[in-house]
Amino acid sequence: MKKKVALIMGGLSAERDVSLVTGAAFEKALKELNYEFQVIDAKEDLPKILAEKKSQIDVALLALHGKLAEDGVVQGICEYLKIPYSGSGVLGSSLGFDKYFTKQILSFNKIPNARFELVHKKSVDWNQVTPPFDFPLVVKPSREGSSVGVSICKNTDEFVEGLKLAAQYDSEILVEEYLEGPELTVPILVDRALTPIEIRPKKGYYDYANKYTSGNTEYIIPPELSAGQIAKLKDIALKAHRACRARVYSRIDFRMHKGEPYVMEINTLPGCTPTSLVPKAAAYEGISFTDFIQTLINHAGLDYEGVR
Ligand SMILES: Nc1ncnc2c1ncn2[C@@H]1O[C@H](COP(=O)(O)OP(=O)(O)O)[C@@H](O)[C@H]1O
Ligand SMILES: [Mg+2]
Repeated sequence: MKKKVALIMGGLSAERDVSLVTGAAFEKALKELNYEFQVIDAKEDLPKILAEKKSQIDVALLALHGKLAEDGVVQGICEYLKIPYSGSGVLGSSLGFDKYFTKQILSFNKIPNARFELVHKKSVDWNQVTPPFDFPLVVKPSREGSSVGVSICKNTDEFVEGLKLAAQYDSEILVEEYLEGPELTVPILVDRALTPIEIRPKKGYYDYANKYTSGNTEYIIPPELSAGQIAKLKDIALKAHRACRARVYSRIDFRMHKGEPYVMEINTLPGCTPTSLVPKAAAYEGISFTDFIQTLINHAGLDYEGVR
């Protein structure tokens, strides 16, 4: 019997719109694969809806991004109801979504990442803001995505504005040294690093508009790097995926810095919109979008499976 799928999308995060686009791509694939499925918008009543429909759901396919979705919260609801779900478990989701904790795990595992300082919104002295590093530097909310709340600051005024913006999205703010060099990303699928993709925005950095506006960014696959550098990127990406306890799939964002790969962050529910990177890398490897969705369904699970 084919599994009955609940496609969960939308949600309450700043990335709701992106999630709806990812969800539409998932929906198309489910139709092509002839799945029996229902679409659920992850609003405040999600726990109630899942509890009510649980007998009609074999797998929850998560087309969500951002807060209450990519951070282990939805995963926790599924755990409680024993509904197997796609992607990472509770711990991996939480670790991946919190960039400060991701960096702790990366550093503990000797995986290069940008120097940083954590700033608590409440402890900022707005009359006397002191940048911890030379400009340019990067300010970002610890827990957000899609470049929402991220600023690249070239002077103190921009730094103050950057802190204010990031503070709208999280009480914990990361200030990072700016990594100068090509931007790359490496998708992981079932414990294997796919071919890295180089990301070249035509203007500025890889912000929200450059992520989701078709034509704003050039994607180069395979990247123009040596075979050794590509192998190193893949190796570090897989190490980061495992160290952060990601499961089934993820996408690790990098910048080359002085010729060496530095991890910026890990995405446990990466975007799957028409401009997104995981489907691009999968296609390059000969994995169609429907194969990709089939893989997510096949590998859906629960944290305590086989333990209880
Ligand atoms: N330390 C850094 N140095 C240079 N650019 C950065 C740095 N951190 C982030 N960026 C830029 O900001 C973008 C978004 O940052 P990222 O950490 O990937 O957060 P998210 O994608 O979750 O919003 C990156 O894709 C990159 O273009
Ligand atoms: Mg990113």
